[in-house]
Amino acid sequence: MDVKNVVFVYFSPTGALKRAITAFAEGMGLPSEAVDLTLPEARNGFRRTFGRDELLIAGMPVYGGKLPLYLDDFFAGLNGDGASAIATVIYGNRDYDDALVELKMRLEDRGFVVQAAAAYIGQHSFSPRVATGRPDQNDLAAIAGFGGQAVASIAADAFGTLNFKGTYPFTAVGYDPAKTGPYPTRPPVLTGEECDGCGLCATTCPWGAIDKNDWKTIDNTRCFRCFHCVKICPNQAKTVTDEKWLAFLPTFEARLNATRKEPELFLPE
Ligand SMILES: Cc1cc2nc3c(=O)[nH]c(=O)nc-3n(C[C@H](O)[C@H](O)[C@H](O)COP(=O)(O)O)c2cc1C
Repeated sequence: MDVKNVVFVYFSPTGALKRAITAFAEGMGLPSEAVDLTLPEARNGFRRTFGRDELLIAGMPVYGGKLPLYLDDFFAGLNGDGASAIATVIYGNRDYDDALVELKMRLEDRGFVVQAAAAYIGQHSFSPRVATGRPDQNDLAAIAGFGGQAVASIAADAFGTLNFKGTYPFTAVGYDPAKTGPYPTRPPVLTGEECDGCGLCATTCPWGAIDKNDWKTIDNTRCFRCFHCVKICPNQAKTVTDEKWLAFLPTFEARLNATRKEPELFLPE
């Protein structure tokens, strides 16, 4: 297949996936356009029908070994009509479990033919001390190389199976903020007196979980604890003070940092 245009579409609450997928697309050396569907307003009403000479690269982070919930509008706007796609996920150095299988299935449901897949490692949303700064320069160089390899494989109409891990029916549990799951992955984010009401947290929350008129009110059934608001607050007014969570963090960090995982590319075999 002769690819004329690459469209990379992503959901990236804390920016790691955005950096990786951009490197992947640039590594293809073809005209490309970015579609950022991180904010609810961007997803709402998004529609894009792909031509047969266009290639979609779709990317999301891994949450609990699956794709994040509540992103039906991300997929509803994508119409493949037989166009080619590449499924990519990023994870925080634990595992991607069933997330790539799920992404491939959801793209196929939207009419795409998934011709390649990739998994990258990104700094963990829960802690800046897990996979710190990733994707780093080594990752980005490898990922750009993946882009070149993937475009060559698609141009050659390579045919076969994509052999990555994961099962369907899914065995990974995913992450549902509305359910009380295994503690301590659900600490509440609190807003302190330092809040000057600028509203940045509410307007940039990927889930629309912060009340736009009252920034101290966070809907805990929609908050995924991506900690985007904690990181971007100019006054450091958002914090997690939950003692059990803070006591658990060193164990979590040591466990996830034990082995450095590397980015992977999957082409038809
Ligand atoms: C709710 C939640 C669940 C997560 N679950 C996993 C997981 O199962 N495995 C893993 O390795 N990383 C997990 N992560 C970490 C993210 O996948 C990782 O930080 C990723 O780089 C975030 O991408 P982003 O910066 O583009 O938002 C989770 C993060 C969140 C917020």
